[in-house]
Amino acid sequence: MTKPHHFRTIIEPFRIHSVEEIALTDLEQRQGALERAHYNLFGLHADEVTIDLLTDSGTGSMSSKQWAGMMVGDESYAGSRSFYRFKEAVEDLTGMSEVIPTHQGRAAERILFTEMLADGDVVPNNTHFDTTRANVEYQGAEALDIVIEEGRDPAATHPFKGNMDLGRLGQLLGDESSRVPVVMVTVTNNSGGGQPVSMSNLRAVSEMCAGRGVPFFLDACRFAENAWFIKMREPGYEEKTPFEIATEMFSLADGCTFSAKKDGLANIGGFLAMRDHSLAERCRNLLILTEGFPTYGGLAGYDLEAIAQGLHEVVDEDYLRYRIRATAYLAEKMNAAGIPTVQPTGGHAVYIDAKKLLSHIPQNRYPAQALAVEVYRVGGVRGVEIGSVMFGKIGDDGTEQPAPMELVRLAIPRRTYTQSHMDYVAEVVIETAGHARDIPGYRIVEQAPWLRHFTARFEPV
Ligand SMILES: Cc1ncc(COP(=O)(O)O)c(C=O)c1O
Repeated sequence: MTKPHHFRTIIEPFRIHSVEEIALTDLEQRQGALERAHYNLFGLHADEVTIDLLTDSGTGSMSSKQWAGMMVGDESYAGSRSFYRFKEAVEDLTGMSEVIPTHQGRAAERILFTEMLADGDVVPNNTHFDTTRANVEYQGAEALDIVIEEGRDPAATHPFKGNMDLGRLGQLLGDESSRVPVVMVTVTNNSGGGQPVSMSNLRAVSEMCAGRGVPFFLDACRFAENAWFIKMREPGYEEKTPFEIATEMFSLADGCTFSAKKDGLANIGGFLAMRDHSLAERCRNLLILTEGFPTYGGLAGYDLEAIAQGLHEVVDEDYLRYRIRATAYLAEKMNAAGIPTVQPTGGHAVYIDAKKLLSHIPQNRYPAQALAVEVYRVGGVRGVEIGSVMFGKIGDDGTEQPAPMELVRLAIPRRTYTQSHMDYVAEVVIETAGHARDIPGYRIVEQAPWLRHFTARFEPV
């Protein structure tokens, strides 16, 4: 039964039991930190950041029950009690009996793709996350993004902008199914603005894959946030619990990869789960090679306990209502002041449209990087550039093709910041936008050959 909510204010459904100091720096300190870090926010020390919205991955706060679970973690090398608790939690949720723990999501991806992909294959996804794309490409396969058209337009409103383009999937499975060893859908679609995928879209993908005998895997990092959007937006799901919706989502898939650093509510961990026993056996053999024995997979027993408990807590309705509302609250405050953000607001982050806000900066001078730097300089809030620094394509002749969007992502760690922190973030962004015209562009003066955004050095132009 849905609980009645009479009051407008949706409170954090927890009280704070242990606190961590944050740095309150002045403008001069932040300017110095930026210069030392060559205007790359990854180069800042965390102690120089007041509100850290770099990522929602592994940065959340664990509950007292999770910490208590850690105290009873069983560190046996083989057959740990904590593994069986973890396995039961994953099985209950996914209905998948083959459960393989990994140290984080990308390890699950690497193991799965090493087993499934070959040179020249194609993997369709709504939008690949960057580690997923890199792991597909590392096997010599093509990572193909086929999100619906609305999912590529920041201003387009659609309740499920993470949906896969079924026409394109049908074409691919019709013409080239022999080159498609697996179809993936990312819930929610992180690289596409944290946008959800509808149950009907998942069902259609599942049926199309089954028709062609192609396995369908979910990249399930934010499955609970996706389930909440389905409950709020998809007819027929209003009365279902997030857990019921999540189990229905998983029932449509043959397997999943998962980073427990998101909707596992843990600081580290992940898993690969599936129904196919023989594929799982092959994956376990690889797991032993690089991650560890199949009952711990690179994690401590206490991590397995924290994840098992986190998977129960994350589907709590009060938690999800607060979680999704907190993200929308931040976006609404900024939108009311005329700051353009990706619409509608996604689950875990607010994405500011820097191309629109800093229209005087051409894409080859990285408007989203410029905005992210300035938001830090003004108020010590760290977001991340998701634009041409991260996704610009560099040709063989050194010319650069800009990314389709120039966004600054403000990702909200789970259960970590309060409403006043969000008010502060909105105020900092609004003040920054007040002098948008004076914000300079940047040029890259040093960069690595791949994943350059982590270490590139910049200079204001
Ligand atoms: C959609 C998605 N897939 C995969 C990953 C990779 O997970 P991890 O960082 O645990 O390796 C992430 C992490 O941010 C993600 O957002």
